Amino acid sequence: MIEVINSVSDWKQILADKKNIKSIGFVPTMGALHKGHLSLVEKSVEENDLTVVSIFVNPTQFNDPNDLKNYPRNFDQDKNLLELHNVDYIFYPDYSEIYHDNYRYKVQELEFSKKLCGASRDGHFDGVLTVVMKLLNIIEADTAYFGEKDYQQYLLIDGMVKAFFMKTKIIPCATIRSAAGLAHSSRNELLTHKHREIAPLFAKLLRSNLSVEEIKNELNKSEFKVDYIEEIGSRRFGAVWLGKVRLIDNVELGREQNDTMS
Ligand code: PAF
Repeated sequence: MIEVINSVSDWKQILADKKNIKSIGFVPTMGALHKGHLSLVEKSVEENDLTVVSIFVNPTQFNDPNDLKNYPRNFDQDKNLLELHNVDYIFYPDYSEIYHDNYRYKVQELEFSKKLCGASRDGHFDGVLTVVMKLLNIIEADTAYFGEKDYQQYLLIDGMVKAFFMKTKIIPCATIRSAAGLAHSSRNELLTHKHREIAPLFAKLLRSNLSVEEIKNELNKSEFKVDYIEEIGSRRFGAVWLGKVRLIDNVELGREQNDTMS
């Protein structure tokens, strides 16, 4: 049966009692779990002796208090889903357990974190990197799984782990999309019915052969407000608003997409 752990000391006790476990897989989340999260969980369960999923809506990565307030939360449903997927432990701490220092200490990356999502979400990646470093240090996982939908986040976390000689291996996992092509995201739950219908156009345009400017023009013709569409290296990244909901996505250019539709 799945066990819910709320404190760092309880988790460290479990680690001490389980010295002969060969590999711990970890999936950090903010809850409101969807098929994207579950694909990471499935991979971890398949590849490790033990899987831990954290559920923590991390306030320091929200630059907008309303976004934090409205972020979907559904612990009981998440717990049932994780139990069905054979997860061993849920790490479910409160703010004071993670931020006993009151966020006096933070992890910063000074270049790539200022671009793309970092350009319009001040301090967002400081919050992400800080909480992920704390979680990786707490869980002591061998492997941690991150979705490629948040590709900038994945690159920054992978860079941090290497910069600080941390032991966890970071595994990127393909984006999971709806049949219409929209990347699964907890924020999709907040879309109105009408916006849910037009949202897949964002993914479709991002994957098209149109130029960045042409994509922006097409999006502007519909109800989207473009935050950015940019190409960096072999990847095209985008963020748009539909009403009050911000959606992000990215595609690798010049390659057959291997994302899963479900
Ligand atoms: O991708 C997310 O859900 C969050 O940014 C993460 C990695 C769990 C950190 O809070």
